[in-house]
Amino acid sequence: MTEQVYPVPAELKRDALIDKDRYQALYRQSVEDPDTFWAEQAEEFLTWQQKWHTVSKSDLNRGEVAWFLGGKLNVSVNCIDRHLAKRAEQTAIIWEGDDPADDQLISYQQLHTEVCRLANVLRERGVKKGDRVCLYMPMIPEACYAMLACTRIGAVHSVVFGGFSPDALKDRINDADCQVLITADEGLRGGKKVPLKANADKALANCPNVHTCLVVKRTGGDIDWNGKRDIWYRDAVEAAPEQCEPEWMDAEDPLFILYTSGSTGQPKGVLHTTGGYLLQAAMTHKYVFDYREGEVYWCTADVGWVTGHSYIVYGPLANGATSLMFEGVPTYPDASRCWQVVDKHGVNSFYTAPTAVRALMGAGDEFVTRTSRKSLRILGSVGEPINPEAWEWYYRVVGDERSPIMDTWWQTETGAHMMTPLPGAIDLKPGSCTVPFFGVQPVLLDAEGNEVEGAGEGSLAIKASWPSQLRTVYGDHQRCIDTYYSTYPGYYFTGDGARRDADGYYWITGRVDDVLNVSGHRMGTAEVESALVLHEQVAEAAVVGYPHDIKGQGIYAYVTLMEGAEPSDELKKALIQQCVQEIGAIAKPDIIQWAPGLPKTRSGKIMRRILRKIAANELDSLGDTSTLADPGVVDDLIGNRVNR
Ligand code: WT7
Repeated sequence: MTEQVYPVPAELKRDALIDKDRYQALYRQSVEDPDTFWAEQAEEFLTWQQKWHTVSKSDLNRGEVAWFLGGKLNVSVNCIDRHLAKRAEQTAIIWEGDDPADDQLISYQQLHTEVCRLANVLRERGVKKGDRVCLYMPMIPEACYAMLACTRIGAVHSVVFGGFSPDALKDRINDADCQVLITADEGLRGGKKVPLKANADKALANCPNVHTCLVVKRTGGDIDWNGKRDIWYRDAVEAAPEQCEPEWMDAEDPLFILYTSGSTGQPKGVLHTTGGYLLQAAMTHKYVFDYREGEVYWCTADVGWVTGHSYIVYGPLANGATSLMFEGVPTYPDASRCWQVVDKHGVNSFYTAPTAVRALMGAGDEFVTRTSRKSLRILGSVGEPINPEAWEWYYRVVGDERSPIMDTWWQTETGAHMMTPLPGAIDLKPGSCTVPFFGVQPVLLDAEGNEVEGAGEGSLAIKASWPSQLRTVYGDHQRCIDTYYSTYPGYYFTGDGARRDADGYYWITGRVDDVLNVSGHRMGTAEVESALVLHEQVAEAAVVGYPHDIKGQGIYAYVTLMEGAEPSDELKKALIQQCVQEIGAIAKPDIIQWAPGLPKTRSGKIMRRILRKIAANELDSLGDTSTLADPGVVDDLIGNRVNR
């Protein structure tokens, strides 16, 4: 296979923060002498109230990871206070509203005031170090204030994406035993209202421990009010003092919980801690986007996902950057929106997901070419493999063949970038996340768990601890061990498959477990199946992913009905509604196929491999079906495939 290689642009080769030689030298140091390397970085990037006594201590067999032991710091001080001497008046956050006429610039000084006041409100409501606070927010500045206010007083935030349903919100609040919720009356996306407070009310009906719900007024829409529990955010903040003593946190004190999907059961609360997480978020933000003083940086993610945590809030603000936060969607009012925002605010780096690139590519070049985009210097991609066609379009049409694309591979669990190019150091190959970041040691493992040497393919695992590694699954360390550390003892297992080419470049081939990636959103097939079987007419359901032009993967559900139940379009609608209610709109099946029977082994295990092949229309590679209890069901499923 010949691949097109895009060399580092001459200008970046000359003056990027990290060039090829420096990458190689630093990478070597980072794996040969990690403690020295990371200690130097921790001094350079963060401000410590007390220095650590031990750089790192880990035992991957037991899923035990710790960095900068004995060190003390505060995240809000690192993201705000320490910048004030030099950049109190500099914009910390550019907020761009859903409506193009709506925007706001928030300086570091204003950010400080907002965060301290809210932190005082939380303290007054009894929130102490270590307590969990849930955020269910639209993309408004208050979401950042709330995250940072938690860090100021040592509370652990758990941000739940605003697209999740009341049921999903309730489960997450109760799993982490959050006692305070921060939300808004309604969100606004693409001109449509999102009933956050109404959803929160439904969730809180089954969350007996939540005593306080702070509500930001975003739209002024009609909402119900519980006088014992609900407080208007603005009223409370305006009555609170402007100064708030930070809580000095141990480097290993919990910083946040973020729920993510796995192959089985309920979503897991991935726990990140303070020092190591902040260091790697800051360092990757600076080097991967080659961030220079005064630049405007824009990550289009939602703060409800880890990308928003690390690359809208913590990484950029720790670096004293100007971070753009966008409330809307890339196609509203039309498909030109992103590029208009780039021109309006002079955006220098733009970081988005392949699904957005493909959607905008489908809308046509004219939406892009009518804008200038001259300020753009670096482009980024995250969340799923970017297909070379979308990569080329992003590079050629959006970037005018001037801006390199940083295809960053990482996960909620890794906290920050793990494999990624660096603009001045690494030549690009469309579709490859290229090479490991400093300190990251990826390996490919074969079916026996042996490391694959040189070019080859296998399960992607990481051989040594890195600072922003997850520390545990909240409340269930055994589940953390079982999920990440027991498949290949001594390694962190990612759940992804990958290929390494002769140049040592990595190509992610997709999940090797039962996890879907729909528009960059991670979802367990088991979660969707559980939602479907809740319907009284459903006997059984099996969900797989299939290739989808825009979403990357679509959700394909095979549904077996109860005796006597009749398939109908109404029933399909009801099942889709069931998924929306249990999980959220992101979990809507794209295709439902009625399946009188599912392909099972004689021991009753569903053979998903066959279901995936049928869903993908790859009928000539079904493989061996002779071990099935009833091979006849396969013919029926093939015969009744849903056209698309
Ligand atoms: C999974 C993690 C990391 C932030 C957003 C998603 C897939 C992520 C890439 C990439 C190929 C990617 C992997 C990974 N993924 N980035 N650049 N190339 N695949 O975080 O929800 O925890 O999902 O997303 O499959 O395991 P997440």
